[in-house]
Amino acid sequence: MTAPLIEIQRTRSPRPRPNTPDLGFGRYFTDHMFLMDFDPARGGWHSPRIVPYGPVAMDPAAGALHYAQTIFDGLKAFPDQNGEIRVFRLDAHLARLNESAKKLCVPQVDVALVSRAIRTLLAVDASWMPEQEGTSIYIRPIIWASEGFLGVRPAKTYTLCVILSPVGSYYASGAAPVKIWVEEKLTRAAVGGLGAAKTGANYAASLRAAEEAKARGYAQVLWLDAKEHRWLEEVGTMNLFLRIGDEVITPPLTDETLLPGITRASVLELLREWGVRVSERKVSLDEIKKASAAGQLHEVFGTGTAAVISPVGELGYAGGSIRISEMKPDSIAMRLRQAISDIHYGRVQDRHGWMTRVETLESAA
Ligand code: COI
Repeated sequence: MTAPLIEIQRTRSPRPRPNTPDLGFGRYFTDHMFLMDFDPARGGWHSPRIVPYGPVAMDPAAGALHYAQTIFDGLKAFPDQNGEIRVFRLDAHLARLNESAKKLCVPQVDVALVSRAIRTLLAVDASWMPEQEGTSIYIRPIIWASEGFLGVRPAKTYTLCVILSPVGSYYASGAAPVKIWVEEKLTRAAVGGLGAAKTGANYAASLRAAEEAKARGYAQVLWLDAKEHRWLEEVGTMNLFLRIGDEVITPPLTDETLLPGITRASVLELLREWGVRVSERKVSLDEIKKASAAGQLHEVFGTGTAAVISPVGELGYAGGSIRISEMKPDSIAMRLRQAISDIHYGRVQDRHGWMTRVETLESAA
């Protein structure tokens, strides 16, 4: 079977590039987007196309709007030292998109086609790649249930869309340590729920606690498990890592309440290569309070596509707070941040095969 052609309809009114040294996260969007529709009556996914970025028509009865049958992923493209664009762990992200799809009864996508769609879209909007240090293009694929039907069951039709956003730091504080609130009442995800899927519902569930944390002066929430409110899970939009003594710990994925982060997996791989003692194990709030009191809690940091590696400077909770010592340049978090960004920007050889090059449109043709 021949690979489907991706039609390209170019914008007639390209928009001005953001004229700011501080792009922030997710505020600006490039000139084009990718769309593709799913309809069993048309053989499944059909009509892959790149069109000018803009609003899409949606049936007000669409399942995504009512019952949150929608999934997404988030990944990044970086310029290398020759100015070519490369995507970090494209296949791993698309595999995760398909895992999220299974959990939300969304049809599987053809990874090769969506990979080509993302690379083509990046080639079309290549001139949107920002130039400042630490910036990239954030790629957001999303699939929503588009069928207009109010009964509760998986929809019959879907739309897949990919948009691109030139981004800087996720946090306004940049790489400076963030203050995190440990949420002991509200929960993000329970065992048997959707915690491991990248789906809007998990983020909707996080908003109230995050707003309350912000009102207390904290940037994000550290989630505890939904049953005992004791075990550390995730921090805001990131996976959590701690260094206690000489052990680096991250909560395990076994309960399927955490998002299986691609940066998390990359960090684990690097730490193991470096010979660091690393454990995927449960860690309780009590354990870190005790480790902190004993001077053994050396580092806390979050990992994620948007935030990359973000050191945590303070954990606040009802009744106290834990201050984590100043990040030193030789801290694990700083070494990881450097190592991962060296891979992102092609300053070191891509030994793991994590970067996928974006062909220019001429050479892809
Ligand atoms: C990520 O870091 O993986 C994200 O996609 C974060 C996003 C929800 C803001």
